Amino acid sequence: MRTQTPKLGHKTLLFLLCFIGFLTPHDVVAVQILSKSKLEKCEKTSDSGNLNCTKKIVLNMAIPSGTSGGEASIVAEIVEVEENSSQKMQNFRIPPVLTVNKSAAYALYELTYIRDVAFKPEEYYVKTRKCERDADAKVVKICERLRDENDHIIEHTEPICCPCGPQRRVPSSCGNVFDKLMKGKANTAHCVRFPGDWFHVFGIGQRSVGFSVLVQVKTGSKVSEVLVGPENRTAISNDNFVRVNLIGDFVGYTNIPSFEDFYLVIPRQGGPGQPQNLGRNLSMWMLLERVRFSLDGVECNKIGVSYEAFNGQPNFCSSPFWSCLHNQLWNFWEADQNRIERNQLPLYGVEGRFERINQHPNAGTHSFSIGVTEVINTNLLIELSADDVEYVYQRSPGKILSINVPMFEALTQFGTATITTTNTGEVEASYSLTFDCSSDVTLMEEQFLIMKPKETTTRAFKLYPATDQAAKYVCAAILKDSDYKEVDRAECQFSTTSTVLDNGSQGNPFNPPKTGTTGFFDSVESIWNNLWNILVDFVTGKTCSGCATVASTSKGTF
Ligand SMILES: *[C@@H]1O[C@H](CO)[C@@H](O)[C@H](O)[C@H]1NC(C)=O
Ligand SMILES: *[C@@H]1O[C@H](CO)[C@@H](O)[C@H](O)[C@H]1NC(C)=O
Ligand SMILES: *[C@@H]1O[C@H](CO)[C@@H](O)[C@H](O)[C@H]1NC(C)=O
Ligand SMILES: *[C@@H]1O[C@H](CO)[C@@H](O)[C@H](O)[C@H]1NC(C)=O
Ligand SMILES: *[C@@H]1O[C@H](CO)[C@@H](O)[C@H](O)[C@H]1NC(C)=O
Ligand SMILES: *[C@@H]1O[C@H](CO)[C@@H](O)[C@H](O)[C@H]1NC(C)=O
Repeated sequence: MRTQTPKLGHKTLLFLLCFIGFLTPHDVVAVQILSKSKLEKCEKTSDSGNLNCTKKIVLNMAIPSGTSGGEASIVAEIVEVEENSSQKMQNFRIPPVLTVNKSAAYALYELTYIRDVAFKPEEYYVKTRKCERDADAKVVKICERLRDENDHIIEHTEPICCPCGPQRRVPSSCGNVFDKLMKGKANTAHCVRFPGDWFHVFGIGQRSVGFSVLVQVKTGSKVSEVLVGPENRTAISNDNFVRVNLIGDFVGYTNIPSFEDFYLVIPRQGGPGQPQNLGRNLSMWMLLERVRFSLDGVECNKIGVSYEAFNGQPNFCSSPFWSCLHNQLWNFWEADQNRIERNQLPLYGVEGRFERINQHPNAGTHSFSIGVTEVINTNLLIELSADDVEYVYQRSPGKILSINVPMFEALTQFGTATITTTNTGEVEASYSLTFDCSSDVTLMEEQFLIMKPKETTTRAFKLYPATDQAAKYVCAAILKDSDYKEVDRAECQFSTTSTVLDNGSQGNPFNPPKTGTTGFFDSVESIWNNLWNILVDFVTGKTCSGCATVASTSKGTF
């Protein structure tokens, strides 16, 4: 019954789950228990997916995500259950241990293939004479008009011929009169070609948020598992023992981007046209605003520019070389590379800008997802069939035998109180034990225990004084029986004082702490030199030899 949430207060502790530990590798998350675990009647409704039981344990909890929306895992033990809101608690003989593993959350986007576009359309020109639309390769070389596989001329691929002169697209000398007469007038032939890589363009549609939560319940040697997620919000274990319901919406997510105004471009995989597989190499995947594209290719200076747009541009011969071919994929790619060299985030590339791209479960060959980095609680309603559960719920008196507080270790600011209790009655029974100190000590979590007749049990409570000034504290240990009635109480006091970090045990009459580096009692003069508070003693009427003992028979008399 160890906990890593020491701040839970006494009242919170009625929530009856006892956290054994948080297994998240880098992150300790606090789980919120939204209600007590309750024992309820199983109602038979017409729905399928009900537990086949007469009684069930119902609990409600919130599981946060790990850092950056990553995986989270918690383990909790259900120690008690409340019988029909009577405040009467029942303890399990074999407490079910609950493990909840929540996967990282992701946003998955629908993709619609649109078309392929060239990465880098290029303008070519050839200095020639006799440039004509239908000139052959001897005259216009690369700018000869193109034919398709059926030998049909491809429209708008013919060269555009510009006369020579200084004010031209490519300024050129017109040569001498003799050349002009003999060979024809000098000119330049211009054309656009798409020699390099091609990219697939996808429209981005609706997004859906996904994650999965695996709930495992171990009772003795029996293990039951249930997997739920936004698609399957309710599920039941194969053995009909556990039912889990994911409650509520994911309205909490506020910063999942919507890419409805963007297209996704990825390098062509294999041939032209819609790819079967988008591949796993994300290094050149980019998201670009839709307005940067011309889907029919008829606009200049947009991604997807066509032969038609290029050849049809107005004032062709007097416009600058390469006009109509700006703002292409390669320009955006290079802009990103410049930013990356300056250690800035890319503006268009997806890598480096998003986490866990396409790492969702069952990521297929044709998907686009990004990790959701927001930390969000998932509310779960967990029901366990309670028909075969055994309880320990007999009542028996008990006593607190001792409270023992060893000195705080030097250089730490907390210590551990150990409280020994015994069952003074005739039957095995459950108890609760609390240890509360005056307000300057952080509230400690209530502990639940089961003791056989005459059995003694020792429980530890960590003390965290909130102040680093010398102070006195009054504490009370309270033992309650299974009906939550107080059966014994012991009070005690302790004080802390300041100390110095010097290295000598200046006549310390007590067992020095393990590190042996601190003088405890000559330090009053050294308060100005104070670094750490150290628990000195319990005021018990006895000389404290490193610990304090309080007999429960003398309760309330300090
Ligand atoms: C429910 O459990 C009872 C007793 O174990 C059994 O007889 C009955 O067939 C079960 N019903 C269903 C729907 O599984
Ligand atoms: C509540 O407890 C009483 C006494 O044990 C019992 O008679 C009653 O049926 C219980 N009610 C429910 C709803 O379980
Ligand atoms: C839950 O997660 C923890 C930590 O990641 C892992 O050790 C454990 O095996 C997981 N449990 C199940 C049932 O997958
Ligand atoms: C949801 O349930 C259906 C039918 O029970 C199952 O086929 C599917 O795999 C489940 N999906 C997830 C994500 O568990
Ligand atoms: C991914 O693609 C880039 C650009 O095409 C290439 O340089 C890189 O080697 C590829 N990486 C892998 C792992 O194939
Ligand atoms: C403390 O004193 C002892 C004995 O004088 C010495 O051996 C030890 O190194 C000292 N420790 C520190 C931390 O100064």
